[in-house]
Amino acid sequence: MPTVLITGANRGLGLEFARQYAGEGWRGVATCRDPDGAAELRGLGGVEVHALDIDDFSAIDRLAADLADTPIDLLIGNAGVYGPKGCALDDVDYHAWARVLHTNTIAQMRLAQAFLPHVSAGQGKRIAVLTSKMGSMADNGSGGSYIYRSSKAALNAVMKSLSIDVASRGIVVLALHPGWVRTDMGGPHGLIDPPESVTGMRRVIADAGLRQSGGFFDYRGAEVPW
Ligand SMILES: NC(=O)c1ccc[n+]([C@@H]2O[C@H](COP(=O)([O-])OP(=O)(O)OC[C@H]3O[C@@H](n4cnc5c(N)ncnc54)[C@H](OP(=O)(O)O)[C@@H]3O)[C@@H](O)[C@H]2O)c1
Repeated sequence: MPTVLITGANRGLGLEFARQYAGEGWRGVATCRDPDGAAELRGLGGVEVHALDIDDFSAIDRLAADLADTPIDLLIGNAGVYGPKGCALDDVDYHAWARVLHTNTIAQMRLAQAFLPHVSAGQGKRIAVLTSKMGSMADNGSGGSYIYRSSKAALNAVMKSLSIDVASRGIVVLALHPGWVRTDMGGPHGLIDPPESVTGMRRVIADAGLRQSGGFFDYRGAEVPW
């Protein structure tokens, strides 16, 4: 069966990805910052849990080395942060901004880079990152949210370049908007629940080929304008 590596798999969308892929018999390599506190994840059959804070690039490299003999069919860069809520024009926390860019943008690149050999060795050859419509210029009708919006817009740019650079290896790179989902980040007023979002994203990932690589899609497969 194929192998999927998922970051931030202890709760929210990451946990649901792990549950659904494991439920279909995939081998799950799930990472989270605190495996001891991830009882639900550890309780899933067929999922091995590794400690990983994606902000720690040495830890990313160590995990990649530990898994050197493991081909990965699908790498899901799911872990992410929203940063400080609000972030209006007169209330920008520049230190927090740098930290969010590190997690949501730069660490996603480092992860993809570190695991390129594993993905190249897999049959599936897919990399998917969880971005957001909030990173879309075309969709920005309400302003504000400088930190989160810019981190996801930058992530989109990074994934577009990556898709071009790895096309010759047959690797498909996707930027996915999960919808507004009821998780800790999305809050209780989200429009959909994690099973619906993840079921949709899994279909988008499964259906994608090199023609879709470098694209920005929502969980229903609709292209999101940049
Ligand atoms: N929910 C939505 O409506 C929505 C909409 C658009 C995009 N997204 C994106 O979807 C992804 C998942 O969101 P979610 O709703 O599931 O969020 P969530 O419930 O807040 O979960 C976020 C996950 O990311 C992990 N994480 C954060 N920083 C990390 C780090 N430095 N190293 C390792 N793990 C880290 C968290 O781990 P800890 O438990 O250790 O904090 C947690 O597992 C994110 O990239 C988010 O931006 C979500």
